Amino acid sequence: MTRHLLSLADLSAGEIVRVLELAESPAPPVLAGSGVALVFEHPSARTRNATELAVVQLGGHPVSIRGEEIGIDRRETAEDVARTLACYHGMIAARVERHETLERMAAALDAAGVHVPVVNLLSDREHPTQALADLLTIRQRLGSPAGRVLAYVGDANNVCRSLLAAGALTGMEVHLACPPGYGPGDEDLDWARGLGGKIEVFDQPEDAVAAADVVYTDVWVSMGQEAEREARYRAFEGYSLDDRLLSAAPPEALVMHCLPAHRGEEISASVLEGHASAVWQQAANRMHAARGLFRFLHASAAEEVS
Ligand code: CP
Ligand code: NVA
Repeated sequence: MTRHLLSLADLSAGEIVRVLELAESPAPPVLAGSGVALVFEHPSARTRNATELAVVQLGGHPVSIRGEEIGIDRRETAEDVARTLACYHGMIAARVERHETLERMAAALDAAGVHVPVVNLLSDREHPTQALADLLTIRQRLGSPAGRVLAYVGDANNVCRSLLAAGALTGMEVHLACPPGYGPGDEDLDWARGLGGKIEVFDQPEDAVAAADVVYTDVWVSMGQEAEREARYRAFEGYSLDDRLLSAAPPEALVMHCLPAHRGEEISASVLEGHASAVWQQAANRMHAARGLFRFLHASAAEEVS
């Protein structure tokens, strides 16, 4: 079966280590002569640039496509889009409104016996390429994530789910604090604990960050949730990662955020720009992690064909 990356949990613990090693080693031109389709149903600054450059660094040719150009399930079905892109490209990576779209694209290619990996560049369920860059950043700053504590404060969203899987697969405990109604569902907790995750859910953000090696937050309104803006801002009051909250964490704790950030909302300007912040290293690592992942998937697809 072709290896796709729809969830971070599509990689084993050992494979994550391998991807991170590949991310930090010199890049051979394994994608020479090959195209990679990069589809974006939502806007992107980091992901589009990081993945385009990663493909170029591996000798391949990226083609970035906006959602409205191909109209998934409007102009033609997700299955037909996937089959079409696979006629030209060695890999398809997509940022989608609905996670199910990625599943349908991967299933269509599998059913047709086409060995083209599908990569999730963010869905409403997960953001696995972000989590790979975050693990690379943690490894560079703190060494192995095993035994560390990552505290996540805010919305238990796509980024949070991939971090739960990242923690489970690398032995890093995850401490969560989310407002009522915006925490992880039982199915998310069961899923991450089933992967081996050690997860604690706290009522108060100060308690969640108390033992943290890393304090992580993300926007309160994710792409596609714009209609909920007012209600979310009310609910997330008191969950801002500001100097007051950061002072409840150990003094050496790193601050992480996938970006884009909204200063004065989920994070204060002083914390985002402060000495503990690793956010620009995370952003830079998006490209290195994407390169490691594409090398890994290319090697897996080549094994499948031979
Ligand atoms: N972190 C991240 O995915 O950023 P973009 O939405 O700009 O790609
Ligand atoms: N949770 C955010 C992440 C953006 C990179 C969103 O989905 O909009």
